[in-house]
Amino acid sequence: MTIAHISDLHFGRIADSGVVEALVDELNAGGIDLVALSGDLTQRARVSEYKAARALLDALDPPSLVVAGNHDVYPWWRPLKRVWTPLARYKRYVTDDLAPTFEADDVAVLGLTSAYGASIKGGRITAADRRALVDYFRDIPADWFKVLVVHHQLHPTAIGAISPHPVARQAQETLDVVTEVAVDLILCGHLHVSAIQPLEIIPGTHRIVIASAGTTTSNRWREPTGPVNFYNVVTVESDAFSVEERRYLREDGRFVRDGVTRFDRLPSEEEG
Ligand SMILES: [Fe+2]
Ligand SMILES: [Fe+2]
Repeated sequence: MTIAHISDLHFGRIADSGVVEALVDELNAGGIDLVALSGDLTQRARVSEYKAARALLDALDPPSLVVAGNHDVYPWWRPLKRVWTPLARYKRYVTDDLAPTFEADDVAVLGLTSAYGASIKGGRITAADRRALVDYFRDIPADWFKVLVVHHQLHPTAIGAISPHPVARQAQETLDVVTEVAVDLILCGHLHVSAIQPLEIIPGTHRIVIASAGTTTSNRWREPTGPVNFYNVVTVESDAFSVEERRYLREDGRFVRDGVTRFDRLPSEEEG
């Protein structure tokens, strides 16, 4: 089971036309079972930007699972829409499913939407989102590999290592639930920094890997990675999984392998 993880496309601030074309070509080349897109599809939630994002999703052969980012809500100069119907355009052009799921080959994926209107760039996970987390993963067999897709960051240690940004509101409460349902991997974005970070929750029993993707197609690059676009390829096997970071080579118009981080899968015994 192979998941391509793309993030922070930011249509409206695309780095160059070649990067979108190269991305679609790669994702359609075969071997990808799911494309997970962890938010910030647009720069200012403009209709033209949403149409471009829609065109990319329509061009993909594999199924996609998408969550919204903070740039996908109405901008600050549309304050009423931003507060009352923040994701109206997202729902119209992308999906009205704010907690999408996908299952294949003993892998279960849930996406949650952490973007909301009354915030500049932070995110939040609500009690209703946490209930959705429990309700979904509770029915998934214990030995399946469990993946959560969310735009904002949840772990202060993980985020502290790579960026001065704050975690999403109610991140700790959410991490408690993520631990309870034994999520194996969190796919997130927002930072525009590619980083693969294992967090030992219960040593030898439960570990969560946080895979933050860089910006896959935009020129909103951040240090320390600099002006580079990234996406990740997650491969899940019965006893191990790996995250391959793929970096865009502008001069060649293609993505290349930047590194692979491999993890053993821990035994799926019930906790407690
Ligand atoms: Fe972003
Ligand atoms: Fe963001």
